[in-house]
Amino acid sequence: MNEPYFSDSQWESWADDLAENNYVILNDFLNKNLLAKLHAFLKTKLEEEEFRKAGIGSMADFTVDRAIRGDWIYWLDKIRDQEISEFYLLIDELTAQMNRLCYLGALDCEFHLAHYPKGTFYKRHLDQFKIRSNRILSVIFYVNTEWITANAGQLRVYAPNEAFVDIDPLPGRMVLLRSDIVEHEVLKTEASRYSVTGWLTKHPIGVGYLG
Ligand code: OGA
Ligand code: MN
Repeated sequence: MNEPYFSDSQWESWADDLAENNYVILNDFLNKNLLAKLHAFLKTKLEEEEFRKAGIGSMADFTVDRAIRGDWIYWLDKIRDQEISEFYLLIDELTAQMNRLCYLGALDCEFHLAHYPKGTFYKRHLDQFKIRSNRILSVIFYVNTEWITANAGQLRVYAPNEAFVDIDPLPGRMVLLRSDIVEHEVLKTEASRYSVTGWLTKHPIGVGYLG
């Protein structure tokens, strides 16, 4: 058994926040070592030109529209991407704790690396697809090694009970939000913005579940 990253009581207070606000911001969630690993892995994949233009929608309604989102992504694979196996230990812990505390019933996950080049953004949206509604919880890790507010590129979260909150993509920070109800957008960034973004899902990926 691996040592857990965080204690049960820490998870409990984060789960309470999530239950109350439908989103939660966790600073320095990635330790320095894991942040450095994810950053280096992302840089390697960029150099190898493994990133593709991100699209919107899923399967039948998938399209690329740069007026909606301008990021480039690289889909991760837990088996293939052994260099970041530690990241998946963290995701396993997150999934187990969220299932225990929020009765999430998450059975699987899907993650990609994301690169927003200078001048790109992602307009206001919900993460659940119209024809594939299995995404339960959105999970975003910021993996730049440094970030200043003048870079902009904030994550703007529209909470039902307040207008919006702007979140700087600070190194090591994680944001959780409910995929079905929390609208959000990425404001235009003035510098290359790196993240690992994914979803805990209800049904195993690839089963072809519709609706
Ligand atoms: C997404 C998304 C937010 C962010 O990829 O769906 O909303 O802060 N990302 O990168
Ligand atoms: Mn999103």
